[in-house]
Amino acid sequence: MSTNAEIIAVGNEVLLSNYRQAPVVLDHGKGCELWDVEGRRFLDLYGGIAVSALGHAHPALVGAIQAQAQRLLHASNLVWSEPAVALARHLVDLTRPEGGGAPALSRVFLCNSGTEAMEACVKLARRHAFLKGEAQRTRFIAFKNSFHGRSLGALPLTGTPKYWEGFGCDLERVTHLDFGQLDQVRAYLEAHPREVCGVVAEPVQGEGGVLPAPEGFLRGLRALADEFGALLILDEIQTGVGRTGAWFAWQHAGVAPDVMPLAKGLGGGVPIGAMLVKESLNGVLSPGTHGTTFGGNPLAAAAAVAVIETMQKDKLVRRAAKMGDYLSAKLAELARQHPAIFDGERGLGLLRGLLMARGVEARQMLAAARDHGVLLSVASERVLRVTPPLVIDEATIDEAARAIGAAAASIPIPAARDAKQSA
Ligand SMILES: Cc1ncc(COP(=O)(O)O)c(C=O)c1O
Repeated sequence: MSTNAEIIAVGNEVLLSNYRQAPVVLDHGKGCELWDVEGRRFLDLYGGIAVSALGHAHPALVGAIQAQAQRLLHASNLVWSEPAVALARHLVDLTRPEGGGAPALSRVFLCNSGTEAMEACVKLARRHAFLKGEAQRTRFIAFKNSFHGRSLGALPLTGTPKYWEGFGCDLERVTHLDFGQLDQVRAYLEAHPREVCGVVAEPVQGEGGVLPAPEGFLRGLRALADEFGALLILDEIQTGVGRTGAWFAWQHAGVAPDVMPLAKGLGGGVPIGAMLVKESLNGVLSPGTHGTTFGGNPLAAAAAVAVIETMQKDKLVRRAAKMGDYLSAKLAELARQHPAIFDGERGLGLLRGLLMARGVEARQMLAAARDHGVLLSVASERVLRVTPPLVIDEATIDEAARAIGAAAASIPIPAARDAKQSA
């Protein structure tokens, strides 16, 4: 058996050095537990960055993947295959209003990642304007501090300048406004009434620090997009598929987007992305205008069907809301117990952030938590992000909270706070 150190040494030689991996080589998992190649156990409080919705080695997901692998791995988009159709059927149905009615979004494009789903949204919005005879509408409104992916179509929407540097990113046609400021959106649209083809927002800014949209913001964006003839694109790549305690976070706000990209939790760990659009947008991307070889791949689609059906059977969306409340209370308690380290918590459902006190880096806490057996991720320099599998239970949250508390007690208290406290 190879050790963590041996594998990492080879990885450092042969993998591109574009990631900053923790010194852990994960080997296998079960539920919310993970083990490295040396047998060390961790609690999974990051879910592979909001991906592993069913936890690890869930029998329904493993079974679906095995069964599909034995039947057909790949079909191509020259023909139909049942898993893609079944998945699209499920996704459309999930956008119906509670109690029934027509689905808000009724057409699905399948792809392989969040960035690809976002890329499709960009192309769809521009081409929609073009086909309406408004070819000048090429501009997007997006928000500061947002994250929408890193391809050259998605990257300009990402409102975080550190990701742009050196990539010749086309920022000319994206305007980034302050997240939550509807007056800025109105003012911009009034000044440029025929330029904007799409308004793009995350219902909760994930990478930017787990910042839920303020009350009324999504509703206001919906109204402004309608008034000025732009498409509303709500990026549910991180928030979607049950994470926030609703299938899609816009369902909390009671307004639907025109276009919605999804990925992350959708495949429960198998790479897949999707773009859902309202019926009137079907036909914008006519045959030949957009596509991808692996889009709707039977293996990935069968995995996503298993994720959705398991979530329905085990009522995991309701559970995410309940466990989200429980986790929120535990994180708030940790913040009260360690005021020199934490400065509160926030989030929606099981997408939560623990804010760092002044002088403490999220990465410092990340490493300390790992040393105490809990895997987390960071979202901005100041926020420790907590996105466990949706199957997490109270006992696991309790165990993780104890370990994070012990980790907080192990890191040095910042000097300024020290001085203030002893004064
Ligand atoms: C809101 C949001 N949009 C887009 C992306 C990009 O998705 P992917 O990493 O699957 O390409 C992410 C990934 O973190 C995300 O959180």
